[in-house]
Amino acid sequence: MNRISVPSDVANLVQLDEASCRFRVSRASYVSREIFDAEMESIFSKCWLYLGHDTELPVPDRFLTRVVAGRPLIFLRDAGGTVRCFLNVCPHRGAQLCRQRSGRARGFTCIYHGWSFANDGRVIKIAEEDMYDARFHAAGDHDLVPVPRLEQYRGLWFINFDNDACGLVEYLAGAREYIDVILDQSEAGMTVIGEAQEYSARANWKLLAENSTDILHVVSLHPTYLDLIATNSQGQMRRGKVEGESIDLGNGHAVVERKASYGRPIAQW
Ligand code: FES
Repeated sequence: MNRISVPSDVANLVQLDEASCRFRVSRASYVSREIFDAEMESIFSKCWLYLGHDTELPVPDRFLTRVVAGRPLIFLRDAGGTVRCFLNVCPHRGAQLCRQRSGRARGFTCIYHGWSFANDGRVIKIAEEDMYDARFHAAGDHDLVPVPRLEQYRGLWFINFDNDACGLVEYLAGAREYIDVILDQSEAGMTVIGEAQEYSARANWKLLAENSTDILHVVSLHPTYLDLIATNSQGQMRRGKVEGESIDLGNGHAVVERKASYGRPIAQW
């Protein structure tokens, strides 16, 4: 990544010229390491971040490892059925604790010095324990470190690295209604099937966020998608003019809402 200097006045990063209807963003917003680090601190360390769905942990002892905002995590349902999320880091000397993507386990053993932890986070074995000074144990907690906040909304689990953050439902603001629209499509509820599909791009994260509310690219780049949603259950396509708008839902959330002439919320299953 190129390092370029950050404008001393952050307000210079964006320029709105209403007379010419132009909104310009400085290149520094996308390539500056300093700005990226500031975003990690002020956004990704403060906001609620999606972790996974309840049905990805269908039984006790099921675990998944994920990296969210650069932090390696273990997302699991413990032996008693409680959903938890820990840093995937051994509290002894910081080695990676769990090296599998997913599985079932009552606990985890660190390969570095052999400490073991139950899946509720309690340390249950400190290898060579008698070699440690008694004060080491008196110092207290050697358990796994949970993420500061873990909350769910209708089976969608989110984490927050800020203890002082507002509650998840308050944070979701207007996005909650749209989440409900998706989840209410089936009385049977939602089930995540199979492993996660992941993809990555060598790009600044804001480009993805902006692209999600950029309705103008859809006609040229996603004709197959438009054909799909314009096709009824008899296979007849009624593709018309795409009308829609991007809507601010508060707290940084946004949605693209489109007029649909086919009477269904997403697509024909
Ligand atoms: Fe894990 Fe030492 S770093 S047991």
